[in-house]
Amino acid sequence: MSEPLKLGLAGLGTVGIGVINLLRTNGDLLTARAGRPMQITAVSARDKTRDRGVDLADYAWVDDMRDLAARDDVDVVVELVGGTDGPALDLAQAALKHGKGFVTANKAMIAHHGLELAATAEAGNLPLKFEAAVAGGIPVVKGLREGASANAIERIYGILNGTCNYILSQMEDTGADFADVLADAQELGYAEADPTFDIEGVDAAHKLAILASIGFGARLDFDAVRVTGITQVQAADIAQADTLGYVIRLIAMTDVEQKDGEGSTLLQRVRPCLVSKDHPLASVDGPTNAVVAEGNFSGRLLFQGAGAGDGPTASAVVADLIDIARGEVGAPFSIPVADLEAMAPTEPGHRMERTYIRFTVADRPGVLAEITAAMRDAGVSIESLIQKGRPNEGGDVLVAMVTHEGQERSVQQALHLLDGSDSLTAPPLVLPLLRN
Ligand SMILES: NC(=O)c1ccc[n+]([C@@H]2O[C@H](COP(=O)([O-])OP(=O)(O)OC[C@H]3O[C@@H](n4cnc5c(N)ncnc54)[C@H](OP(=O)(O)O)[C@@H]3O)[C@@H](O)[C@H]2O)c1
Repeated sequence: MSEPLKLGLAGLGTVGIGVINLLRTNGDLLTARAGRPMQITAVSARDKTRDRGVDLADYAWVDDMRDLAARDDVDVVVELVGGTDGPALDLAQAALKHGKGFVTANKAMIAHHGLELAATAEAGNLPLKFEAAVAGGIPVVKGLREGASANAIERIYGILNGTCNYILSQMEDTGADFADVLADAQELGYAEADPTFDIEGVDAAHKLAILASIGFGARLDFDAVRVTGITQVQAADIAQADTLGYVIRLIAMTDVEQKDGEGSTLLQRVRPCLVSKDHPLASVDGPTNAVVAEGNFSGRLLFQGAGAGDGPTASAVVADLIDIARGEVGAPFSIPVADLEAMAPTEPGHRMERTYIRFTVADRPGVLAEITAAMRDAGVSIESLIQKGRPNEGGDVLVAMVTHEGQERSVQQALHLLDGSDSLTAPPLVLPLLRN
């Protein structure tokens, strides 16, 4: 029998315990696939006394998880703690410095520090893997790095945050407003006590930045992701979208623009979009994630599945461990860090799109004319316009419209013309229509 791959596991929460259960349940199958057994030797978490529903007696307990990095009985450190910096980052750096492989599900840390960690890993010819950091159980990192690696990728987009998708699809099903659905989601465990990272789109942005780097060979650039969360989406928007044949989803999207003689620019964007009901992403409901990658030879590839949860996330973590047990190292971002292209962010104002705009306006004559005049003056052509019949409690009326395809900056210009108008009683909401 070959030598086992010895694992030091930091974090015994949802994913950590999921990994222990998977290694125990599928042990023989994993040994056959990996060509050698995988064996946890040491574990670490904050509270040694907590009952975690699994027997930890076979594993050495390490009080400070950073000490896993120096242990002789650890070949690979598995970090399932979380946090952008702090102990998780210390552990990653220490593990690589001590010549260990490193596996993590931590998208925040990879989005912020992935390049420096990858450079260290490459210098030491060590594996650094993070399949579970993007879309939980969906093998989309491998899908791009391996299955689709023969393609020039043209566009990657999808639903990368289960909490937002759960909230939006619940709003759709029940007609309830954002705040009520969020409260329910927190009670049911679909949303964190502090949901900011999810509902403001930051979590999806972390994952998108990682996918953009792998898909386009671009240097990871989380700070360049333009992010709009779902907090401004109202039940009325979902109802209007439904009337028009659309659902609303938080869409993370990235593509590359080639500019003659000026190199390439990278667009990375997270924002709620109207998705046509006949698009595959429209039927992605609840906490499910889905990613579309368009390759120049493969055509449209759709990856769909559970974006979180103990089992699915453990499945992705252990798939990385199997690769390492087989001796696969590879560049973490598909091509070596030194060869990743530094791409400037795309300024999207010239991009053509159709747009849904919702205005909240005072219920009085002339308001509609004022809005349509601003649209006309900015060169925005209106395709359809819906005015909700009765005023709401505050006496406001919702006016929603969909524009014909036009430059994104024209809509911004029209809204600028309406800045300060006392006809508008709340800031307008602008949502693009996802191109099919
Ligand atoms: N949950 C998911 O479905 C999911 C999906 C994809 C990716 N992820 C990522 O996976 C990672 C873990 O998530 P999770 O949901 O499993 O988190 P979790 O349930 O909150 O568990 C976190 C674990 O880390 C331990 N921990 C926290 N701070 C520590 C410290 N300073 N030193 C040592 N241990 C520490 C905790 O110890 P105690 O138990 O003793 O408090 C706990 O065991 C995160 O990066 C997350 O983003 C999670």
